[in-house]
Amino acid sequence: TSAHIGVTGLAVMGRNLARNFARNGYTVALHNRTVSRTRDLVRDFSDEGSFVAAESAEEFVAALERPRRLVIMVKAGGPTDAVIDEFAALLEPGDVIIDGGNAHYADTRRREKALRERGLHFVGAGISGGEEGALHGPSIMPGGSADAYESLRPMLESIAAKAPDGTPCTTHVGPDGAGHFVKMVHNGIEYADMQLIGEAYHLLRDVAGYSPARIAETFREWNTGRLDSYLIEITAEVLSHDDAATGEPFVDVVADQAEQKGTGRWTVQTALDLGVPVSGIAEAVFARSLSGHADLRSASTHLPGPAAAPLAPDDAERFAEKVEQALYASKITSYAQGWNMISSGSQEYGWDIDPGAVAAIWRAGCIIRAVFLDRIRAAFAARPDLPTLLADDRFAKEIGEAQGDWRSVVATAAGHGIPVPGFSAALASYDALRSPRLPASLTQGQRDFFGAHTYRRTDRPGTFHTLWGGDRSEVSAD
Ligand code: 6PG
Repeated sequence: TSAHIGVTGLAVMGRNLARNFARNGYTVALHNRTVSRTRDLVRDFSDEGSFVAAESAEEFVAALERPRRLVIMVKAGGPTDAVIDEFAALLEPGDVIIDGGNAHYADTRRREKALRERGLHFVGAGISGGEEGALHGPSIMPGGSADAYESLRPMLESIAAKAPDGTPCTTHVGPDGAGHFVKMVHNGIEYADMQLIGEAYHLLRDVAGYSPARIAETFREWNTGRLDSYLIEITAEVLSHDDAATGEPFVDVVADQAEQKGTGRWTVQTALDLGVPVSGIAEAVFARSLSGHADLRSASTHLPGPAAAPLAPDDAERFAEKVEQALYASKITSYAQGWNMISSGSQEYGWDIDPGAVAAIWRAGCIIRAVFLDRIRAAFAARPDLPTLLADDRFAKEIGEAQGDWRSVVATAAGHGIPVPGFSAALASYDALRSPRLPASLTQGQRDFFGAHTYRRTDRPGTFHTLWGGDRSEVSAD
């Protein structure tokens, strides 16, 4: 039998993806460097569908129908290059290699170009949804050529998550690295969302004086409204869990040092290069790094802070409502930044990414899945040339209604000495965008003063320089 598709790299993500294809009626060739993993998969799951176990790379390639389609599910970086090299040597023109790992989009661009020159298709596909998603339906973000996508489309559509309206959560995002770029931004948004939720938790705990169980209840309630999302749902689960060993809330026994595998950092590094402000994501990455600096933190515990007591119960309830408003307004701002970044990347690399289509495929399957994503899809559907999400009438109206509480929460946080870098960066970004005048004119003046870096004027075209060291007259610098 020849297999419709092959999966090499059978760690948990690869294994679950292979099972997902098989459960959807595809015959799946399996390959793993350590052969026992391949055998285990066939032994444990052959009742789910049809598998062809291959013990060598040659056997694996020979098992695939043509054009061959093989999915690589190995660690990003060196291991991915090694596996691509190994298989590319065995493939023939027209065959398709899919990299389903969390590759850096720049690596994907390089690999796609090199393989294209050899007549092979290379599809860098972002896959979100963790282990469960891989098995039951992830959100899939494929890049590469449109032709390659067409040959994969039925399979990807059948294994992908389905949005509430039944649409599969996959689309051709754009050429070469577009899929992995968009997956990277997804993860950046994921970091920002998690940070905002963490700040809401911190405020409810230390300002409202709520217990973790009470906060779990609050999040459950929020999850019935506009914040309805997977991340809020699991937050409530984590907060209502007690540690078996101590009986204490789980969240109190876990070390408060957040780790990261790097996709959030990549997002911010890339944003710096593109010159697009993603302060919410940057604050989230920095908040994780700060939490991990035990040295800096232990050297700082004696620093003075405000003496503010938790709120009285009646005030606490009103405060919790304000936190919901602040969280929602910050979320809109942070997603707007994410979409601004997608648009910059798309322009920089000529990808022509459809922003509404990205929102559509994030409605289900992925970590940031939420009711909110359908609103973003709708915003772009109503106005395909929307310059930024904040310009959408509905989002603008909601932020307008939330802004009073948002400001109050940021001020209360400062008064109580609770760090809210996500909430306050989002608010600062919002206020900066709406300001008719920014102090950037002063920055330009300073630059011109110390380095003759020149400036433009508001009242006429051209570039100018003031003779700061002389008679301070203005000269044209064109
Ligand atoms: C997903 C997740 C996935 C991974 C995160 C974890 O979309 O399914 O984003 O890719 O679990 O990247 O990231 P950190 O370890 O960096 O928090």
